[in-house]
Amino acid sequence: IKGIEILGTGHYVPERVLTNHDLERNLDTSNEWIVTRTGIRERRIAKTNETTLTMAYNAAQEALKEAKVTPEELGLIIVATATPDMIFPATAAQLQEKLGAKKAGAFDLSIGCTGFIYALVTGALYVKALDPQKVLVVGAEKLSAIVDWDDRNTAVLFGDGAGAVVLGANSQKAGILAFELGADGSGAELLKLPAGGSMLPSSHETVAKKLHYIKMNGKEVFKFAVKKIEESVQNLLHSANLEPQEIDLYLFHQANRRIIESSLERLGLGLEKTFINIERYGNTSAASIPIALNEALHEKKLTKGDKVLLAGFGAGLAWGGLILEF
Ligand code: ACO
Repeated sequence: IKGIEILGTGHYVPERVLTNHDLERNLDTSNEWIVTRTGIRERRIAKTNETTLTMAYNAAQEALKEAKVTPEELGLIIVATATPDMIFPATAAQLQEKLGAKKAGAFDLSIGCTGFIYALVTGALYVKALDPQKVLVVGAEKLSAIVDWDDRNTAVLFGDGAGAVVLGANSQKAGILAFELGADGSGAELLKLPAGGSMLPSSHETVAKKLHYIKMNGKEVFKFAVKKIEESVQNLLHSANLEPQEIDLYLFHQANRRIIESSLERLGLGLEKTFINIERYGNTSAASIPIALNEALHEKKLTKGDKVLLAGFGAGLAWGGLILEF
């Protein structure tokens, strides 16, 4: 996808910090277990009046400011989320109104933790076809709302937050050098939110059975993630005709530090080639990659002209990746 560029990035995380030690008080778990198995030390948890929409709005405001783009200049808004404020209307439509983006179309995109990659590719494909030629792509999640705080298998993993990027057209730019979007619905049972959809609407019974919370087979998702990241990275490098070392930074979905480390090891790369912030935020699903991207840019791990490889994976099962020249 040639001739597009990221004009600005932003992120927002709630103020409230929930540490592993806080979790130890109510769950049969330990800081040591969580740190060694996942790399997570703390996560941010939204207040009641903070929602996916308000977090998306804060991240979007920062990205627009950095991009020096006004809301009226946006032609499209995409919000990748598995935790929209409501099933409908789309959170993206509410964001359009909150920002005052009068000329923008808006839709939500739902494919779990891979959402931001799908949304960035989709946004990039739209840029030049739009008027105005600017797209706001947001990944935002309030996972604390769908986590069973009594289930140690999942409660320790997730956090809340949002990240955003503004895309624009620039004929001088190489843009997205390669991308891959994948899905394998045969793994649907491994990671799901069973109730609240049209198949199993929320009822007293679904609540009593805790079916409105995340259910996950962590071991299988872990194996899938490591395998898919490696395959996907190889495919992307091949289609962009690049060697692993020619990528300046690899940014993976922050689900588990061990997944990132194993993937890099399989690719023969060292930790200096990546950016990890999972210790502070846990897994923020569709928000994790744009938050990491924004922090990596601000910490100068990434500068203009660099090549970055983004890769995500998660519920679906689904995966996706892209190589972008900054
Ligand atoms: N504290 C203490 N013990 C725990 C905890 C906990 N929080 N959680 C699980 N355990 C126990 C288990 O009960 C098990 O005990 P047992 O052996 O007596 O049965 C033991 O620890 C080992 O459990 P495993 O599941 O084998 O632990 P593992 O090393 O696989 O780590 C984890 C679990 C962290 C969930 C890992 O599998 C993982 O990260 N998987 C990937 C998850 C993921 O990425 N999900 C998100 C995808 S993105 C999306 O779309 C939302």
